[in-house]
Amino acid sequence: MRRAVAVPLGAAALGAAAATYGWAYERKAFQLRLAEVPILPAGAPSLTVLHISDMHFTPNQPWKVSWIRSLDELEPDLVVNTGDNIASRRGNPIVLDALGPLLDRPGAFVPGSNDWFAPVGKNPARYLLPDDGRRTYGDPLPWGELRASFTSAGWLDLTHRRTTISLRDLKVELGGVSDAHYKADHYDRIAGAVSGDVAIGLSHTPEPRLLDAFAADGFSLMMSGHTHGGQLRVPGYGALITNCGLPRWRARGLSPWGPGAWLHVSAGLGTSPYAPVRFACPPEATLLTLVPRSE
Ligand SMILES: [Fe+2]
Repeated sequence: MRRAVAVPLGAAALGAAAATYGWAYERKAFQLRLAEVPILPAGAPSLTVLHISDMHFTPNQPWKVSWIRSLDELEPDLVVNTGDNIASRRGNPIVLDALGPLLDRPGAFVPGSNDWFAPVGKNPARYLLPDDGRRTYGDPLPWGELRASFTSAGWLDLTHRRTTISLRDLKVELGGVSDAHYKADHYDRIAGAVSGDVAIGLSHTPEPRLLDAFAADGFSLMMSGHTHGGQLRVPGYGALITNCGLPRWRARGLSPWGPGAWLHVSAGLGTSPYAPVRFACPPEATLLTLVPRSE
């Protein structure tokens, strides 16, 4: 009898300790992920792409502002932002402060559903159950104003748009869709074979049907966020969920997507204010270095 009580108490104590660690330390322990992606034509100069995602800004997160501002020291050729910037009506000026000098660099973005609706508290157990298709709609967030700030700074809004830019004398084709998590994606609006030296596709949620569509059109790098890398990972097992159709093993980082194409999923820089904990999954940005394909 005594033993039967002791096990749950021990597990509860362990869980409380992990949650305290994940709240007090790990959610602020930012990491820079590095990855090399062999997708450029032979002889091309390398290109660096800084991937940021899922900042989920609320007021009073100075640790996050200062770390993101410091990323400008990497001097990326392109900044890609795959959405979920804000988690509060007061988040916009903080996002702009955090991005700061990065907004003066070439940049492109797509929204995540958390840019549209304020977060609401949910039963955490729902995340571990199969997706029942239900979505929550909190108060509207001022995404239109943030989007206007991005575009007036020169960043490209890739919501159902394709465009080609020149970086280091390479034609870099960019395309993107709105967020599939709320079924707002319409790939048919941007469908068509790519023609640039390299093509990068953006989608906040890495739904496999979208990634397949990008790859079939010749996009060689797809970039997404949304999964938070699982946010709470089990050492030796990995992410418990991806919150979409992506397999767990692809929850964060670079992985191949068919012949010649790659997927990069950012574990993101923030969390919902209702689940401000990370475990074995620190917040991150990624510096991708695009290099020539190996022959
Ligand atoms: Fe997110």
